[in-house]
Order: sequence, then C-alpha cells, then structure tokens
Amino acid sequence: MSVKTLLTNRTTLEGQVKVPGDKSISHRAVMFGSIANGITCIENFLPGEDCLSTISCFRQLGVDIVQNGSDVTVTGKGADGLNHPEDTLYVGNSGTTIRLMMGILSGLPFTSTLEGDDSIARRPMTRVTLPLGKMGASITGRNNGEFTPLTVEGQKLHGITYELPVASAQVKSAILLAGLQAEGDTIVIEPVKTRDHTERMINQFGGKVERDGEVVKVTGGQMLKGTHINVPGDISSAAFFLVAAAIMPGSDIILRNVGLNPTRTGIIDVLSAMGADFIIEPYESEAAEPAGDIRIKHSKLKGTIVEGDLIPRLIDEIPVIALLATQAEGKTVIKDAGELKVKETNRIDTVVNELKKLGADIEATEDGMIIQGNQSLDGGTVSAHGDHRIGMMLSIAALLCKRDVRLEQSEAVAVSYPGFFDDLYSLVRK
Ligand code: S3P
Repeated sequence: MSVKTLLTNRTTLEGQVKVPGDKSISHRAVMFGSIANGITCIENFLPGEDCLSTISCFRQLGVDIVQNGSDVTVTGKGADGLNHPEDTLYVGNSGTTIRLMMGILSGLPFTSTLEGDDSIARRPMTRVTLPLGKMGASITGRNNGEFTPLTVEGQKLHGITYELPVASAQVKSAILLAGLQAEGDTIVIEPVKTRDHTERMINQFGGKVERDGEVVKVTGGQMLKGTHINVPGDISSAAFFLVAAAIMPGSDIILRNVGLNPTRTGIIDVLSAMGADFIIEPYESEAAEPAGDIRIKHSKLKGTIVEGDLIPRLIDEIPVIALLATQAEGKTVIKDAGELKVKETNRIDTVVNELKKLGADIEATEDGMIIQGNQSLDGGTVSAHGDHRIGMMLSIAALLCKRDVRLEQSEAVAVSYPGFFDDLYSLVRK
C-alpha cells in the first residue's frame, strides 16, 4: 500500500490538460474489436488498469491484441473465433469487464471462470446473471450466482424482452452483447436512459440497433466488422479538474478533447445549476461520440439538488460533486443514488467518512448524502479504500486543506487515470 503526501494549501490552477481516453468506451472498443471480423485500430485508448484487464482477458480467449500506450490494434475473428481460456479470467477491479464479458461468454461453446479483486468479490452479479439466465445462459457463482468466482458454461441463447430493475449501462450492455449472439430479438427497457456507448459502438462496427425512448432492440446473428475507433477523453476524469478549477480562487483552465455524450454530461448540468463559470466548445465532426474543449474558471457557487434522471448521467462523478458542494453557498442534497453503495466501494460511506476526516459537514442518507456548503477543510490521513475515484476526489480536496494530508492506497488512481497526479500538479500555480 502506498501512502502519498498530497499537495495542500493551494489556491490557483492554470493551464491545460488533455484528459486520457474514456474508460467505458475503451473497454467496449476492445470487446467489440474482439468479437468483430477484421482489424480494429483504437486511438486514444485508456491504458488504465481496468482497461488493461479487458485486454488481458481477451488475449486469454486467443485474440491477437497489440497495445502500445494508447494505440491498440485488435485482430478479431468474430465471436466464433474466441477460444476456451486455459486459466481463470482475471478482471482485477473492473466491474465493466466482468459484467460485459458475461454477456459475450454466455453464448460461446466453452466454459470459462471469471474473478477479480476483493472489491469485485463484493459486487452484485445477479443483476446480470438473472437476465442472461432468462436468455438460456448457464452461470453459476457463490451465493447462487450473486458473487465471484463465476463460471459461465456457453449455451445457445434466445432473445428476451427485459425491463431493467436498476438503471445500469453494464447490465444493459451485457444483455445486448448476449443478444447479438442470440436467436431472435433482444429488447431492453431502461427505467432511465443510461450511457449508450454500447449502442453507438454496435453501429460503428456495422451492426444495427434500434432505440425508441427507453427501449433498445438488437437482433441476433449480426456480422460485425472491424473499424477505427477514436476514443474521446473521459468526462469522468475531466470532472476532477472541472471541480478543482470551480472551487479554487483565481483558477482558469482548459480541458481538451472531453467526451460530451449527453448520457454522460450530468456533471455539466450540476456545474451550471451551481453557477460555475465555463464555456464548452464542441468539435464539429461526424464522430460516433461527441467531444469538445471546456474552459472553466473559479466562481461563486450555490448548493443544489441532484436527483432523479440526472443520477445515471453523473453516477461516477458523485464523489467529486460532494466535494464541490462543500465549497458552495448553502446546502446540497444528493438523492436517488442508492447505486453508489455497490460501486468499487460503498461510495456513500467512503465519501462521507473520508470528507468528514478533512473537516467537512456531510451526512449519509439512505440513497445519497446531504452536504453543507462554505466549509473550510483542514487535513489529516485519509484513504482511497482501493477506489480510484475516492483517491482522486481526496487529492482535489487536499489542495484546499490548511494542514498536511496523507492519502493511503493512492495507487488506486491508476485504475482509471495513471497520470492523474502529474496532470493535476502540472496545473497548480499558487
Ligand atoms: C459503466 C457503467 C456504470 C458506471 C461504471 C461504468 C459502463 O456502472 O458506474 O463506472 O461502462 O457501462 P453501472 O452500469 O453499474 O451503473
């Protein structure tokens, strides 16, 4: 475990950063490249630990993947070209890898076992194994398939119509990926629209997917063709800098090539509602995923309510939104976010407990948190608890702290942003 002494007592961020590639899109690019026919070239792939886990799992399935930093070439031979893995597929900390792979493996003619780290071992999997089971999949695991290790015995699948009980892009994507190999149509109905990178990627790989409101449909047996994917920067990584600049007096920064898919831009809505000073310059292009530059300056902020349909559009940004709220005028309430309890950590508890250690006035609720604004942060020893987004949020919080801050398990940030500290500290001016 590495303990890092964080920069504290700073005021101003200036300059620009090009945040690394989007994690969700990077995973999917490798997965689709592996089940498509032909070569897929991925540009601006995120070489974070989670996405590297996806690459290593598909290599174990026999796919030829060449990775050089953020350039990746996948030589796909179709889903039929995937082979029985010799060993357990190890997904590390990555929920997206394990859940989406179950969708792919369910319809393939071999048996494979998946497992990951201690955090993965605590994350619920029935949300995926249940609908896949309805499609004919055979998946067994600890506690009736709720937890890893999970063993998938490939079967012939058939399409289903499934209403998602929780808004989850991972569950939707697992079902759609299984649906691509199933007989007939597979229809997923979402309670609230979640990130749609899987749907966009099916189109990019020459497949067909239909959407009507919250209803998504794929037909089985489609032929996918390798393609070129340019991964935009990850707005979930950009969020740390957006918040840092918004709360540090005198700050003025530009974030380049940030993904602006509307299913992911809830953080922009929150910044806007709180009165942040920013301009977005979208790139003019026909790219499958929109992107652009964001310039943001410090400004006076006010508390807000974050709830309802907005939650899936900013689910991974809630830890840093909680920090943002500590610096606004008045109270911020976050609700309808019970899903936070089953992320890499229970993010209601880790956010509340760790920010409290720094002196914030923040309280957990059943499905979110209540944060009092205008807080001055002090210092102390905090922990990422193995959760990358908690580690990055606390590193931003530390910049405002008067006393020293030590971050335990700081290595967790490499899950989604290996160069995080270099990029952050390159912006610190005073
Ligand atoms: C993701 C979906 C979200 C998100 C996760 C990535 C994806 O999870 O929190 O970081 O790539 O599909 P859920 O589907 O569990 O909400």
